[in-house]
Amino acid sequence: MTEATVSLFHNKYGAAPEQMAFAPGRIEFIGNHTDYNGGLVMGAAVTEGITLAVRRREDQQLRFTSDGMDAAEADLGNISPLTGKASWANYPLGVIKALLESGMSMPVGCEIAVTSTLPSGAGMSSSAAFELSTAYALAALYGFESDKAGFARIGRKAENEFVGMPCGILDQGVSAFGQHNALVSIDCASEVYRNEAMPKGTHFWIFDSNEKHALVDSAYADRHRECHEALALLQQQHPQAKTLSDLTCEQVKGQSAELGDLLTRRALHITGENARVRAVEAALKSGDLLAVGAALYASHESSRVNFENSTPALDALVQELAKQPEVYGARLTGGGFGGAVMAFTSADFNAEAAASVATAYQATCSREATVIHTRAGDGARLLSV
Ligand code: GLA
Repeated sequence: MTEATVSLFHNKYGAAPEQMAFAPGRIEFIGNHTDYNGGLVMGAAVTEGITLAVRRREDQQLRFTSDGMDAAEADLGNISPLTGKASWANYPLGVIKALLESGMSMPVGCEIAVTSTLPSGAGMSSSAAFELSTAYALAALYGFESDKAGFARIGRKAENEFVGMPCGILDQGVSAFGQHNALVSIDCASEVYRNEAMPKGTHFWIFDSNEKHALVDSAYADRHRECHEALALLQQQHPQAKTLSDLTCEQVKGQSAELGDLLTRRALHITGENARVRAVEAALKSGDLLAVGAALYASHESSRVNFENSTPALDALVQELAKQPEVYGARLTGGGFGGAVMAFTSADFNAEAAASVATAYQATCSREATVIHTRAGDGARLLSV
């Protein structure tokens, strides 16, 4: 991928890049929509991601090109969100703005070329990979220092304030803290990150439903608002609770009359997910992979019933995967409302078994699933040029 990025850069700008960086996409293992609710989440960086090359210009221009999108331009003196076909460049542009606001000095503009091995819209967070690769490459180019948590925060700020997506820290945090063969565990209230080894002989398979997954325009923002509405009502009885993650399922159920059915279910998804993350951490420690799998299925069921961020296509994939003896557990991964299902499997789950799941999915949903057998990989990093 590095060669493809260098050659794209050369073709477009007629020179070699000065800095390059790679940042991975991610799998959300468990802990759905808990991040912006101050909760617990576990993910893994994948080996697929975004490779970004950059060099300084002599003027104030910012130029962006990619292997799949139209070229885009902006001016360092006037950074505001781009619209239409150029809007893909809002991810690096938002990062540039966030880096400047964090104290990075950019006396001149730059040109950027980017290539991706991540399917976009599959719920593997190509946006966070784009943000983190931009942050790492530009910080090296302009001499700005931060740490992994700082770069993750810069990526999130770009997404929240510039792109307009009210996400939590999961995607950027996992892209920064990913580690080969390890999970990334995040306590989103304190932003404390931990790596935990993947159990030996376990694998990740992604089944992209190929259903549109447009988080910015979708119900993600509605869920974000509903969670905050539920919290405001719960705080009347529990003023000490700063987030939904400070409450238990019992406390939520105890106030279901005031909350009403919809907000009760939304809040129960969050409190239930936090409990399931704890259960998964304990089951991983004791090596009980079936208990891990059971929590993954329960998470999906709560998405389907309580949070309503699943779709019939995602449900069909999970149902098919549940019939496979080599699958420990499966659930939607990421924001939901389309996108992908993640399966956590033994080494015996193979391409043939995956193809049979995809065939059954096509028969039910009249759509092809894209299957990716991926691994837990390392986090964002600079590449040598
Ligand atoms: C998207 C967001 C994350 C997180 C997940 C759901 O991936 O970007 O911040 O909220 O959805 O857990």
